[in-house]
Amino acid sequence: MNYRHAFHAGNFADVMKHALLTRILVHLRLKETPFRVVDTHAGIGRYDLAGEEAERTLEWRAGIGRLDEPFGPDVEALLAPYREVLAAVRERYGATIYPGSPAIVRELLRPADRAVFVEKHPEDGAVLAERFNTVTNAKVMRIDGWMALRGLIPPKERRGLVLIDPPFEEPGELQRAAERLADALRRWPTGIFAFWYPIKSPAEVDAFVAEVGRTSGRPLLRTELLVDPPDGVRLAGSGLLLVNPPWKLAEEAGLLLPAFAERLARRDYGAFRCDRLDSSGTL
Ligand SMILES: C[S@@+](CC[C@H](N)C(=O)[O-])C[C@H]1O[C@@H](n2cnc3c(N)ncnc32)[C@H](O)[C@@H]1O
Repeated sequence: MNYRHAFHAGNFADVMKHALLTRILVHLRLKETPFRVVDTHAGIGRYDLAGEEAERTLEWRAGIGRLDEPFGPDVEALLAPYREVLAAVRERYGATIYPGSPAIVRELLRPADRAVFVEKHPEDGAVLAERFNTVTNAKVMRIDGWMALRGLIPPKERRGLVLIDPPFEEPGELQRAAERLADALRRWPTGIFAFWYPIKSPAEVDAFVAEVGRTSGRPLLRTELLVDPPDGVRLAGSGLLLVNPPWKLAEEAGLLLPAFAERLARRDYGAFRCDRLDSSGTL
């Protein structure tokens, strides 16, 4: 396990993923009945952008570092919960702190909602547990995220979100993820699933999305942000595949993603995708 998110926190992929995560949580909060969030690859919860790891890559500068200037009013209205979480976390822990998914979830949980944060890396898991095990409606599990998932769904609330954000350290991870997602969806066909993936080769992603569509038979939303033309090798973009997305999310992502594509492009290339697929996997 070599991947440490501290080197990448606040980069363009985090901005895209976390802005959409806040939108999903906003939608879950619309109904009074409690929900549960399961974050299978949680990281350490918050990151110091002035810390040694972030300083080494400075990836955040081309991500959250480009969000100071406001966007147009429609985009700002959708980004408001993300900006509010950022402000709350900076207020509490310091101006250079960036929230990871557990900190974002924690800010948007209501007292009756629950969250489980899973992190397998021994050191990162220890940091996460120290930070979040004291939160009354959150629990940290220091085990394999996919294994944990099998035992955690469906949750007793029967509504909620599973965020799956693996590090992609091994070849064939997308293919394996499709099988594991299919298994998870058999257990909980109505849960919202948000699966993050890197974009290097679009053909590989096409095959993955088609497989999830075929095996799940559930509505999908394929959201992608490209900050470089894909060349099959470098990380050119960030994708979030949503299964059973909240019904307004496609419209919202359709506003956020073009704004991010323009603002976060590495050189002069920025692109996005926001495709709704029906249960047969077609557009
Ligand atoms: C991309 S980072 C997560 C970032 C986090 N979700 C966020 O948005 O702030 C992936 C994390 O998964 C952890 N990890 C790697 N393999 C794992 C496994 N099998 N089970 C659980 N966590 C794992 C890594 O240690 C790393 O912290």
